[in-house]
Amino acid sequence: MPITLSIEFDGYIYDLLETRRRAAANAPMDVTTLLMKELVNGRPMTDEELTSLLRNWTVGELGTISASVSIVVNYLSEHPDLRQSLANDNSALPDAIDEILRMDAPLMSNRRVSTRDVEIGGRRIPAGEKITILWASANRDERVFGDPDAFCPKKNRDQNLLYGAGVHVCPGAPLARMELRVLMEEFLAAVDTLEPAPDEQPERAAFPTGGLSYLPMIIGKRQG
Ligand code: HEM
Repeated sequence: MPITLSIEFDGYIYDLLETRRRAAANAPMDVTTLLMKELVNGRPMTDEELTSLLRNWTVGELGTISASVSIVVNYLSEHPDLRQSLANDNSALPDAIDEILRMDAPLMSNRRVSTRDVEIGGRRIPAGEKITILWASANRDERVFGDPDAFCPKKNRDQNLLYGAGVHVCPGAPLARMELRVLMEEFLAAVDTLEPAPDEQPERAAFPTGGLSYLPMIIGKRQG
């Protein structure tokens, strides 16, 4: 998110905290209020920590999901046989969505700081170094996946880093998977034909945002 936009966004979240503080006992019993009451290591979280958490949830929810929808719809418009087979057999959808998003990442990268000296891929990284983890690249590593553009949902499922790995693995993954599955089930049931618009080009979002920022399509509605 660009810095000015992110400051504006933080402002909305500070407002949510303030409204709940003023409402005191009358504050709505929602996730924000519960987080404000939560103790971490024996103390409540600071406004900065609460804002960071709520921003991460909201951006994860909005930005990454909408990028994912653009990527999956784009891919299926270019692969009509796959679209038809998924429309006929919804049970293959969850693995297919994960695999399409492996090839074309909705979340390009995350930033981290190394907590200790470490060697990765023959390269020494000292403690305290700022690191960008490029999921988009890791998920297309030929040494792991062979041809990165080959659609192989079953073969690649266990190596797929779409939602990360380890202690910070995406806690929103079950929700994201459910949202994308339900959305695609409904979409495929409603759509008869899906083609890229002939006279317009799709536009890729600019890094660090993944997916497409503009996706002109011609969608034929299923009858009846
Ligand atoms: C297609 C959608 C999504 C993708 C591809 C995605 C991907 C990721 C990835 C790769 C990470 C970093 C994992 C790691 O460091 O190993 C992450 C972290 C996180 N995600 Fe998601 N995410 C998605 C949707 C969501 C949703 C819907 C939510 C919340 C409702 C969410 C909340 C979070 C949070 C809070 C973290 C930080 C976890 C931590 O640092 O411990 N994400 N996500």
